[in-house]
Amino acid sequence: MKTILWATLTANGNYAQSGPENPPKKEALADFATHAQAAGNFIVGRRTFEAMRGNGGGGPFGEVDIVVVSKNASEIPGVTVVRSPQEALSYLQQKGHQTALISGGADIHNSFLGQDLVDEVIFNVAPVLEGKGLNLLINKDNYQYKHVKLLGCKPLGGDVIQLRYAIDR
Ligand SMILES: NC(=O)c1ccc[n+]([C@@H]2O[C@H](COP(=O)([O-])OP(=O)(O)OC[C@H]3O[C@@H](n4cnc5c(N)ncnc54)[C@H](OP(=O)(O)O)[C@@H]3O)[C@@H](O)[C@H]2O)c1
Repeated sequence: MKTILWATLTANGNYAQSGPENPPKKEALADFATHAQAAGNFIVGRRTFEAMRGNGGGGPFGEVDIVVVSKNASEIPGVTVVRSPQEALSYLQQKGHQTALISGGADIHNSFLGQDLVDEVIFNVAPVLEGKGLNLLINKDNYQYKHVKLLGCKPLGGDVIQLRYAIDR
């Protein structure tokens, strides 16, 4: 099963944070919905899932398998709760999915990257600059680098640019 990490970055390279005064761009949200429908699923951290729910329920995801990763949360109606990134992938594989879409937030994205569980990254560069913020890292403890292959680059509208890279693993 192929794993795709989908994330928004700021124009100065942070992992973009959003909130009521700085909501995600509608073009990026529409692109996320397209990828979620195509994959038939998405994996999300417990905190981001709660924020999505707080904002009105997570969008047009009727038939999409939503997998919430949490060490502690118990059952949540309408979604599958798992205890680890690997368990999220095992669950989707066993359901017959060809692709798993990893949708955030920072902890979840860094857990998947740190465990070398990502085949492709989709970065949407949003027209915003941030101060001190969050980062996506392949390793939290040591300096490390990894070359990736550019697969595509396209504007999504609303001044958002999408970059896609393959990770060899
Ligand atoms: N740039 C983007 O594309 C994007 C996308 C989404 C969100 N965001 C931003 O990201 C921030 C939220 O991210 P976050 O890091 O606070 O939260 P998160 O990644 O959405 O959720 C964190 C929670 O997920 C669970 N978790 C994380 N790693 C785990 C692991 N390895 N095994 C088991 N459970 C694990 C834990 O849940 P329990 O505490 O229940 O154990 C943890 O508290 C916000 O600022 C939001 O705006 C950005």
